[in-house]
Amino acid sequence: MALYNMKEILADAQKRGYGVGFFNAVNLEMIRAYIEAAEELDSPIIIGTAEALLPIAPFEWIVPAMLEAARRAKAPVAVHLDHTYHFKTLMQALRAGFGSIMYDGSRESHENNLKHSAAIARIVHGMGVGLECELGSVSGLTDETGHEDEMVYTDPAEAAEFLERTGADFLAVSIGTQHGVYKAEPHLDIPRLKEIRAAVDAPLVLHGGSGLSDDDFRNTIDGGIAKINVYTDIILAGKRALCEHPDASYTDGLCLAREAMKEATVKKLRVFGSAGKA
Ligand code: 13P
Repeated sequence: MALYNMKEILADAQKRGYGVGFFNAVNLEMIRAYIEAAEELDSPIIIGTAEALLPIAPFEWIVPAMLEAARRAKAPVAVHLDHTYHFKTLMQALRAGFGSIMYDGSRESHENNLKHSAAIARIVHGMGVGLECELGSVSGLTDETGHEDEMVYTDPAEAAEFLERTGADFLAVSIGTQHGVYKAEPHLDIPRLKEIRAAVDAPLVLHGGSGLSDDDFRNTIDGGIAKINVYTDIILAGKRALCEHPDASYTDGLCLAREAMKEATVKKLRVFGSAGKA
């Protein structure tokens, strides 16, 4: 299949009311697990990586592998760059060939988030690349100093102005999810999500998809989420498979982990309602 971009994949999801999974990959086994899951279910999918994963998966190794796998896939696959904070990384990403990128200005002041997101939108749009930005802050990630991001809920009253002033194509919202393993049961603010949905047209993105219940996913998709980011649950599935087979050889372990990550991905895609939507 031809390489898809996130804009066309999410436009269809929004029109038909299902969610599309976004999954970070750091090696071939993860890429293959995601694409085989999407092909098995006839589902669109978005794969990618993030600035924080660069030490494990440099762009020059992982991006050509993702692009080639996406082009060969028998399901629609887009390649997207997740959380990125530095201009230098964004420039590297544009050269590497991502179809869309996330600039995460949620650690900055509101004014700086607006200003920097708008400047980056002008650059990436000139190259035909889509831009995801975050308004509010989804907690759970740590910066270079080890400081953990705080949870700041997205203010629905600010969403339309943010998109208008920045020109961003996709909006990541903070409605009670958290990156990584939840320390307490998540309580999602669905009324807030619906208010944001009513205020803007852009596809909305839910970060911190691991650890949510099937009902949480259904409620957020009903409330207007088009893209759901999942990472932790996938690597935990891979790790579990390795722990369950401590005597497996390295290569057998890779296959076991890949199969477990594929199954974990299949489960998510089914709940998101994207199966059969390719
Ligand atoms: P989890 O690791 O909590 O699934 O979050 C993934 C994510 O939001 C990546 O941007």
